[in-house]
Amino acid sequence: MENAELDFFIEKVNSQSDIVEVISRYVQLNMRGGRYWACCPFHNEKTASFSVTPEKGFFYCFGCHVGGNVFKFLSLIENITYFEAVKLQAERLGIEIPTQNKSEQEVERDSEEKILHKINNDAKIFYHNYLTKTSQGALGRKYLNARGITDDVIEKFQLGFAPDSWDGLSKNFLQRGYKVEELLAAGLVSKRKSGEGVYDRMRARVIIPIANILGQTVGFGGRILNAADEKSPKYLNTPETILFNKRNLLFGLDKAHIAISNKNFAIVVEGYMDAISLWSAGIENVVATLGTAFTPEHAKLIMRYARKIVFCYDSDEAGQKATLRALPIVSELGAEVSVVNIPDGKDPDDFIRKHGKSDFEKIVTNARSLIEYRMNYVLRTIEHSTIEGKVHALKEILPVVLNETDSTRQSEYRKKIASALVLDESVVRSEWQKLSGQDKIQRVKGTKLKIEVDEAIKQAGAVALRVAWQDIDTLNYTLSMVPKNIFPKVQQEIISYLETCLAENRRPDNVTAAVQLSDSANAELSKIIIDSIDDRKENEVAAFDDSVKVLHKAYLKNRHAELLKELNKCMLGGNLAKADEILKSLKKIKSELDGL
Ligand code: GTP
Ligand code: MN
Repeated sequence: MENAELDFFIEKVNSQSDIVEVISRYVQLNMRGGRYWACCPFHNEKTASFSVTPEKGFFYCFGCHVGGNVFKFLSLIENITYFEAVKLQAERLGIEIPTQNKSEQEVERDSEEKILHKINNDAKIFYHNYLTKTSQGALGRKYLNARGITDDVIEKFQLGFAPDSWDGLSKNFLQRGYKVEELLAAGLVSKRKSGEGVYDRMRARVIIPIANILGQTVGFGGRILNAADEKSPKYLNTPETILFNKRNLLFGLDKAHIAISNKNFAIVVEGYMDAISLWSAGIENVVATLGTAFTPEHAKLIMRYARKIVFCYDSDEAGQKATLRALPIVSELGAEVSVVNIPDGKDPDDFIRKHGKSDFEKIVTNARSLIEYRMNYVLRTIEHSTIEGKVHALKEILPVVLNETDSTRQSEYRKKIASALVLDESVVRSEWQKLSGQDKIQRVKGTKLKIEVDEAIKQAGAVALRVAWQDIDTLNYTLSMVPKNIFPKVQQEIISYLETCLAENRRPDNVTAAVQLSDSANAELSKIIIDSIDDRKENEVAAFDDSVKVLHKAYLKNRHAELLKELNKCMLGGNLAKADEILKSLKKIKSELDGL
């Protein structure tokens, strides 16, 4: 798209968007004091510090300092780019996205994706038919039935079977007119190591189609029939393609997201078969990673539907380690995490087949919180029979439980730790206090005065910029009193944006600001605008005057300090004429400062 056309398109989508309506899809907003409030979806909190102002079109979180316009919100919450957010919102509003002006690259990529989607879909049907309709597929059917997977589930997940041959799929697909390069790009075939040609990647494997969130097949997992066969891996996946990226895909999410929304939590398992097995038993809010570590992208995908994630990994050592690695990723993003311990059986599939749905639901209900889980893990894995062991375990555990803010639970944890380590509870409490105290002292350290001065300038700058946002002509006055470099860096960026508005003789708006400003400047701008909804409106003129005074004073002090340094240099260098000049300026500044 041309720039002007793009601007027009974005502005059109923006003007038809209601930021409150958009954000309400994801969080519950409550009206208080002239603006909307919610618990922030971008960090973990119990009291609402996330705020939205509909008239201005901004959101801002006073807790984690993210902010911006409606598209910024969508891009963060949906884990997409800013422009993708514009497109998403356009789609939701039924506004047509101009396509005729896509770049050549975009057009090329689009058509490449289209072909890969078609091949993947055809391959899914091919494998599925091979499993369900051919005599050679009997092997696969027998295997699945032996695992308790019914024909209904085979249909539901469109499971398949790959021929036991080097070219079962490729011969068929080349005959249909697909090109070798296309089969390669889809990851369905591999190049022969020696000589020409390609061969089928999946052979004699049960095929599990993997879909993106829209339900389009983007790749496959293939399981061998006999896991005792050590020559080939138990599972083989589609290699990385332009559609298939394991970091961004969760098996089953296309089917599970409705149940995840309804139940308000998602269960994450390690294996495809775990997910399929739980689903067949009637547990539908379940997804599986694709044999890789859990990523922040995975967490964000799930958090589109629910903020609570229950990990139900295998009970073996590898599964527990994987759980421990996944937990901080998720809780950092503000999700509520808990962990299910499978008491009997290696994995969820084993368990539910042995004990059934209601027992599984019970262990999910009893899932441990993140803190409990890590505490238990440390107690289990650190030798703590000796004094040294106890000290070591205590050191490892305390940072984990320190995050608990609820005092009842704090005391429960202290009791538990004391009893597990066979220590007096007072010892645990005093160590606990020492550690949380240390943290505070460290936070207060540093040059307190400097922070206060900076904070005063920042606040004054915010008022001046807030007024400039409403009445851009005031910017000239402000800048005549205070040079730009007195403002904090993020505010300087906002000033530059306002200057371009002035130069181009147009009003500032949240869309063009979002494009021009960095993330932190955008957040600062949102904060500045959102702050104005307070009841100090009628005092705005006085507040503006005061703020410019504060800034001007800061400027004079700065200048005074600079000149003093210069004066020193001139005296030492013997440049007395210059020194005299500087002295005059210093005097002028001093008297101006005294007058303020
Ligand atoms: P079943 O033996 O069929 O019950 O497998 P499972 O679902 O219990 O899987 P397991 O716990 O053995 O492994 C979990 C997941 O890791 C699988 O679903 C695969 O995604 C992946 N995985 C397991 N083995 C392999 C392998 O040999 N190669 C690759 N690439 N991935 C594997
Ligand atoms: Mn298993």
